[in-house]
Amino acid sequence: MPKIRSGRQKYYNVFAYFYDFFIQIHSGRHREETRRFLVESVGIEKKKHLRILDICCGTGSVVLAFAEKYADALAVGYDFSTGMLHKAKHKDKASRIVLVQGDAAYLSFNDDCFDVVCCSHALYELKGQDRTGALWEMKRVVKSDGQVLIMEHQIPKHPIIKILFYIRMLMMGPTDSREFLQQGLTPFERIFPDVSLSHTPSGKSKLIRCRKTTGDNRLRTQKI
Ligand SMILES: C[S@@+](CC[C@H](N)C(=O)[O-])C[C@H]1O[C@@H](n2cnc3c(N)ncnc32)[C@H](O)[C@@H]1O
Repeated sequence: MPKIRSGRQKYYNVFAYFYDFFIQIHSGRHREETRRFLVESVGIEKKKHLRILDICCGTGSVVLAFAEKYADALAVGYDFSTGMLHKAKHKDKASRIVLVQGDAAYLSFNDDCFDVVCCSHALYELKGQDRTGALWEMKRVVKSDGQVLIMEHQIPKHPIIKILFYIRMLMMGPTDSREFLQQGLTPFERIFPDVSLSHTPSGKSKLIRCRKTTGDNRLRTQKI
């Protein structure tokens, strides 16, 4: 992993100690809603042995929720922070998930090998070039009939909450995070031919679904 990441990795290693507590305070019951919305959005009921990859998995809440819903799936959590991965391992009492350490901009997996690739509330925290790299990598490792699911914060509408949101972003994220969140679907449409948007019931998060082939091509791939 390039040395340049080590500062940010250290930051996340420390953050890992109180990440779940922080999220509980920050998002409360909405976090549960978001997780359920993301997992249910996959919309696959019958397929056996799904392969699911959660990039920037943090303390593993999302990948564990996937493993719970799809008991026979291969559910992989991927993150560059040892601290975050330790917390995820600790939460995985029934050893249902596989955890891999690595950089989101350089995924250590073969092409076309996952049915679902997701990234929850993390893309905006990556620096511009890494973010674009991570999106290209997600496209590379997802199967042609698979889906990439990206969950991001919705910019709050209430003026005071909006200011607090931007203050947190200034403290935690790279300088271009704000620009990225304001760009809507454009960064995704530059990479994927099929992009759609939906929102969680509370409207606090948005889900961007990306596919590397369009509808017609997907049907053709499934028939072969
Ligand atoms: C805000 S947390 C999100 C955690 C989790 N996805 C969730 O929804 O709770 C961001 C995560 O991204 C990870 N991360 C940041 N930059 C990364 C990179 N370049 N490669 C891999 N992981 C990265 C951090 O270690 C951290 O666990």
